[in-house]
Amino acid sequence: MARAYRLPGRVAEAEGALGAALWDAGCDALLEDGDDLVAVFAVPALGSAHAGVPDHTLAASSAVPPGGEWEAVDERDHVAAYFEGLDAVAVGRVVVAPTHRQALLTAGQTVLWLDPGMAFGTGHHETTRLALAALADPHLDLRGKRVLDVGSGSGLLAIVADRLGAAEALGVDVDPITLPIARANADLNRSRARFEVSDFAATAPPPGSVDVLVANLFAELHVAFMDAYARALAPGGLAFLTGILAGKEGSVEAALPAALRLVRREREGEWWLLSLERTGDDAS
Ligand SMILES: C[S@@+](CC[C@H](N)C(=O)[O-])C[C@H]1O[C@@H](n2cnc3c(N)ncnc32)[C@H](O)[C@@H]1O
Repeated sequence: MARAYRLPGRVAEAEGALGAALWDAGCDALLEDGDDLVAVFAVPALGSAHAGVPDHTLAASSAVPPGGEWEAVDERDHVAAYFEGLDAVAVGRVVVAPTHRQALLTAGQTVLWLDPGMAFGTGHHETTRLALAALADPHLDLRGKRVLDVGSGSGLLAIVADRLGAAEALGVDVDPITLPIARANADLNRSRARFEVSDFAATAPPPGSVDVLVANLFAELHVAFMDAYARALAPGGLAFLTGILAGKEGSVEAALPAALRLVRREREGEWWLLSLERTGDDAS
């Protein structure tokens, strides 16, 4: 069951602040319909407790930006339309291919099959590509590393980390809708990546338990999680933080504790990825 929030004539803002606000409101897919931007929200099946309550009032209506209209949708139609337009994406040595496409590989490339369903993370968004490029950087050796993907969505990043030799690849996501999708994607790729439903704000990993942390969230969440990132990382460990809209990178950098050092900034379109290194200093 799904509800869509249609914003007429706003498609150009999908990857800007408007898109970010819709993801923030909990939407599960952002679609283009001509000039309209359409945000799809999965709605839990209505129990008897909700009898008589209009469906749209249950669908994050207070959190969405103004200017749009709610409509009922057939979730399957949207997923089908979304899939139709997806092609394989190559990021360095990793090619992400939706299961209904063929992928052409050049020497040294590895393919990852993906069925994103309703979860974010197809490799088509700039932020996902920035994170993929960071993990697939030929100068980074993930073999034997413990990798944590915070906000794993479709599972793509944790699965890539596993494919590139990580000893452990764990994806955590607060949204339960992502769990079966990420696990199915891991199975599809014969990946040992594991996935859990967990709110990083409530359940931080044990100190020093992570060698490489990748997180595609919003700038505000990175700021809130920064100390937990620092504690989770082992000395010398790396964090790749993306989902940071241009203009907000300064607030993330300003939140770095002494235990985290900025090593690189990458930008694609309106989005930044910051690479951080855990120093030997005490993070707490
Ligand atoms: C932009 S998507 C990233 C998906 C995928 N990792 C990628 O890079 O394409 C952000 C994900 O973070 C999850 N998320 C948001 N807040 C979170 C939190 N506090 N703890 C864990 N996951 C969270 C969302 O549910 C969503 O699936």
